[in-house]
Amino acid sequence: MIDAGKTYLVMGLLDSESMAFAIGKTIQAFGGKVIYTVQNPAYKKRFLDRSQDLAENELAALDFRYCDITRDQEVAALFDELRTVSGIVHSIAYANPHTCLGQELHTDAIADILLSHHISCVSLATVLRHAAPVLTPGSSVVALTFDTSHVYPQYNWMGVQKAALEALVRALARRHGRDGIRVNAVSAGPLWTKAASKIPGFDELTRLWDRNSPLGWNVHQDKQAVADAVTFLLGPRAARITGQILAVDGGAAIMGGPLMDHEHPGRRDGR
Ligand SMILES: NC(=O)c1ccc[n+]([C@@H]2O[C@H](COP(=O)([O-])OP(=O)(O)OC[C@H]3O[C@@H](n4cnc5c(N)ncnc54)[C@H](O)[C@@H]3O)[C@@H](O)[C@H]2O)c1
Repeated sequence: MIDAGKTYLVMGLLDSESMAFAIGKTIQAFGGKVIYTVQNPAYKKRFLDRSQDLAENELAALDFRYCDITRDQEVAALFDELRTVSGIVHSIAYANPHTCLGQELHTDAIADILLSHHISCVSLATVLRHAAPVLTPGSSVVALTFDTSHVYPQYNWMGVQKAALEALVRALARRHGRDGIRVNAVSAGPLWTKAASKIPGFDELTRLWDRNSPLGWNVHQDKQAVADAVTFLLGPRAARITGQILAVDGGAAIMGGPLMDHEHPGRRDGR
């Protein structure tokens, strides 16, 4: 799906449950070289180093750089150091769960909303502004989003950031077409990760998803389906695709109401 031997930057590795890790492993399985970014050394120690299903030698073999996406100079230094990159995955988001998520949408914590907007949306433009010189023509940038065509309980301001992120994907696709750079996003169904665990009511959301997807949905197993779609968009098989939001969600986002009794998918093995 990707060009073997080429280098891909996967931004937003927290631990072995991160979407970034599943995507990185998939790129490697297709012969790509992966460089990750980790937010800062404290997070590496607190989360990545404690990843339960990551052997010591696997951890030591990870090629990564530190990069806080809100610090322009850190992003600039990252792309100054990297020579050529064939693709970038933006797997980064943040919202203060106490103010931006939860049972009440309204908040006076404007600084929190703006920080969430900076990290979860604007940072994609920061990345492209600095990355464009090191991206080879034909290269691809993929972000991660969550269904913006419906309003979900407690997801509040993150839903707003994701809608803005999708608009930015289209704007960046238009801007960087002339550079031969594609920009797309994968809209994933709910998956079990650290960020997800901070979303109030996430369990209910996943149950809802499982019940309402024509294909069914599994918060653990379907991470691989999302990683596969990201890898497809990174590679040459998606050469004429840009500015698109590709839903990998078991079909849930198209639904005009819950599945009727006769529509429920058969349970897959191991579920
Ligand atoms: N898990 C889900 O259900 C789900 C569904 C759809 C989309 N997504 C999206 O997938 C992406 C990855 O999230 P995840 O679920 O793997 O969770 P995660 O917690 O593993 O990853 C989130 C990452 O964002 C990074 N981050 C936050 N602030 C940052 C900053 N200032 N600088 C640099 N990095 C920063 C964190 O360090 C972390 O590595 C996010 O965009 C998320 O919204 C997740």
